[in-house]
Amino acid sequence: MAEPGGGPGTPHRPVLLIETTGLLAPERGGLFVDATLGLGGHSEAVLEASDETRVLGIDRDREALRLASERLARFGARFQCAHANFRDIARVMSGAGERVASGVLADLGVSSLQFDTPGRGFSFRHDAPLDMRMDAEGQEETAAALLERLPEEEIARVLYEYGEERKSRRIARWIIERRERGEPLRTTGELADLVARAVGHRRGERIHPATRTFQALRIAVNRELEGLGEFVETAVDLLQPQGRLAVISFHSLEDRIVKRALRRLSGHCECDPRRAPVCTCGARRAVEILTRRPVVPSEQEVGENPRARSAKLRACLKL
Ligand SMILES: C[S@@+](CC[C@H](N)C(=O)[O-])C[C@H]1O[C@@H](n2cnc3c(N)ncnc32)[C@H](O)[C@@H]1O
Repeated sequence: MAEPGGGPGTPHRPVLLIETTGLLAPERGGLFVDATLGLGGHSEAVLEASDETRVLGIDRDREALRLASERLARFGARFQCAHANFRDIARVMSGAGERVASGVLADLGVSSLQFDTPGRGFSFRHDAPLDMRMDAEGQEETAAALLERLPEEEIARVLYEYGEERKSRRIARWIIERRERGEPLRTTGELADLVARAVGHRRGERIHPATRTFQALRIAVNRELEGLGEFVETAVDLLQPQGRLAVISFHSLEDRIVKRALRRLSGHCECDPRRAPVCTCGARRAVEILTRRPVVPSEQEVGENPRARSAKLRACLKL
C-alpha cells in the first residue's frame, strides 16, 4: 500500500513546472521571490528563463536551503536565500534591500526531501522518531509532543479536518488510551501500527490506513494553514504593477484559503449586505485573476509523479 508520495526513491520533480513558469512569466526579468524554495526546482526554471531574472528564495527548512543553494550556485549573485517563514516575506525582502517583486511563487506543503529523509518522521515508510517539524530550530513541538498534549476531542478534530479521516474519533480514543497506560507514541512505526489496528483494513482502499493521520498531524505540527491568507495579501502588496503571484496547493483547505484571498483581492466582496452595509472583508481591486479555475496536472504528469496528484495552481496579475 502506498503513501501519497511516489514511493521510495521517487526523484524530486517540480510540480506543474511548465504551467507555473507560464503564469509567472519570468522572461520579463526582475526579482522573483520563491517563498517555498524547497530543492529549488521552480527557482531554477525561473533563473534559466532570462539573464535579467533574480531569485530570492525563502524556506523554513535549513537543509532545503543548503541543497537549493548548491543547486543554484551557478547563477551567482542572481540567487540568494533566507531562512524564514514565508509569513515574514516583507521583512525578508526589506532585509535583502528589495522593495518590489516581479513575481512571487508559493509551492505549499512538504518537500520530497522532508518526506523521504528517514529521521525526520514525516513518513511511516521508515521507523523514526515522530517529529515532522519542517524547521527543527524554530519549532519546539514535535508530532509526538503534540499527541501527548492535545485533549482527545482536539486530536479527533485535527484528524478529521486536516486529514478527512472518517474514523478520527476512534483513532483519537486509541491514542488517549495508550497515553493513559503510560505508553506515549514515540515513533512513526508505533503510530502507523496503532492507526492500522484502530481502523482495520478498508475494502478497496489502496493507500495505507495511516496516510490521512500522518498528513493531518504534519499540517498541525507545522501550522501550515496559519497566515496563508495574510501571506497572499502581503505578497500582492509587494508586487510591482503587472507583477504575478502563483500559488500551488495540495489540500482543499489550503486551496480554499488561497481562492478566497484572491477573490477579495480582485474586488469581490464577501460581506452579507443585510448584516454589513459597508464592506468589512477587506475586498479591493488589486489584481486580475489569471486562473478562473485552478490549473491541475495532466494525467501524464500524475502518472510520472504521483505526488502531483492533488496539486492546484492559482495565479493573479497585479493591477
Ligand atoms: C513542496 S516544497 C517546494 C518544492 C520546490 N518548489 C522545488 O521545486 O523544489 C515546499 C517547501 O516549502 C517549505 N515551507 C512550507 N511552509 C513554509 C512556510 N510557511 N515558510 C517557509 N517555507 C515553508 C518546506 O520546508 C518545503 O521545503
